Amino acid sequence: ILDWHRETARHGLVGDGMRYLEGLGAWAVHGHAEVKQVLTDYQAFSSDELRYSARPVPHRNNPVLGSLAAIDPPRHQLLRKLVSRAFTPRAVQTLLPWITDTVRTQLTEVDGELDVIGRLGYPLPVHTITALLGIEPARQPDFVRWTEAITSFAGAFAQDPARQAVFRAARTELTEYFQEAFADRRTRPRDDIISVLLAAEPDGTRLTEDELLNFCTLLLINGHETTKTLLVNTVLCLTAHPDALAALRANPDLVPSAIEEVLRFLPPTGGTDRFTTGPTSIAGHAVEAGQRVITMILSANRDPRVFTEPNRFRPDRAPGQHLSFGHGVHFCLGAHLARHQVAIAIGGLLHRLPGPWSVSRIDTARTPVGIDVLDLALAGPSNS
Ligand code: HEM
Repeated sequence: ILDWHRETARHGLVGDGMRYLEGLGAWAVHGHAEVKQVLTDYQAFSSDELRYSARPVPHRNNPVLGSLAAIDPPRHQLLRKLVSRAFTPRAVQTLLPWITDTVRTQLTEVDGELDVIGRLGYPLPVHTITALLGIEPARQPDFVRWTEAITSFAGAFAQDPARQAVFRAARTELTEYFQEAFADRRTRPRDDIISVLLAAEPDGTRLTEDELLNFCTLLLINGHETTKTLLVNTVLCLTAHPDALAALRANPDLVPSAIEEVLRFLPPTGGTDRFTTGPTSIAGHAVEAGQRVITMILSANRDPRVFTEPNRFRPDRAPGQHLSFGHGVHFCLGAHLARHQVAIAIGGLLHRLPGPWSVSRIDTARTPVGIDVLDLALAGPSNS
């Protein structure tokens, strides 16, 4: 898949919008229209791997399984309505001073050189999500530690017994923390999102404790890795394009549109999986029931049928049609929150690092998930 991402990034769309990947036993869909078709048609393309996949991948440790992201309507609609109470514009708005404050504190002693992941990449999303959930600030270091242990447990690292032990301990401690918090809010509701999420709707519907636990874990996993990656990718793109960096310095109002172009050019989520519920077809290819279909967001975002000069990073374009937050019923719940966090962080970096930017080191052990961003940001025929 990585090779294919690179191929698409360098040479544009390959083939007619999809192809079968023998090694993975899965269909990969990479045209913009085709990816949208798959993400829109949840009846033909399910998110529920356990129910529909003919060859489910062993998921002993997948913390997202069984959560909102891995179920279909109608249950999905009901759950999404309940958890959306955590993402009202007011809830997001009240977090902005908190995000600004975290960025300011994290950048206070920065002098010329900065560990972007250590200073902002891990702490910022975790602090934001814990603030959203109403978790005591004193427990934030535990959340940073748990999230780092859980999200870095992927790929080759998952085979390492020492990492397995750290992962299991982190999951247990996180679960115990949430169970205690739920018990506490049930008896003494507070003015926080956990209390809101525990409450029943006027029609009596409510989340079960398991659903709430899955959701809180999903927020940490989905909301953390992706936001960290978007921040890192933005720093890399601006480092590789000094003109763009200078333009943002001259006019910080351009930061949000530059971030939109980073989202298109280097999406933090390279793709997302669906499973065919019955025989169907995509781009004229017949697809059997029970097949894994990988929607290649990165390739779709570089479809020349939709974006001119797709392999150029052009922060002045308005790439409104990118699919980096997904599409359809599972569209990212935290999209606005992520945009705000990265915009505020980049604003802070422009201020604290006023000279030209350069990257001295990429710590791949802390960014094991995702694409080889440096390669993609700096290489390619049109990105000298
Ligand atoms: C869903 C991307 C940040 C919470 C998704 C999906 C994508 C995505 C592509 C759809 C997955 C699918 O259709 O299978 C991103 C990116 C982010 C980001 C690129 C940052 C740059 C966040 C944040 C939060 C969050 C900050 C919460 C704090 C969620 C949730 C879902 C989701 C709960 C599941 C929604 C559903 O299934 O109905 N995200 N996300 N995301 N995201 Fe994000």
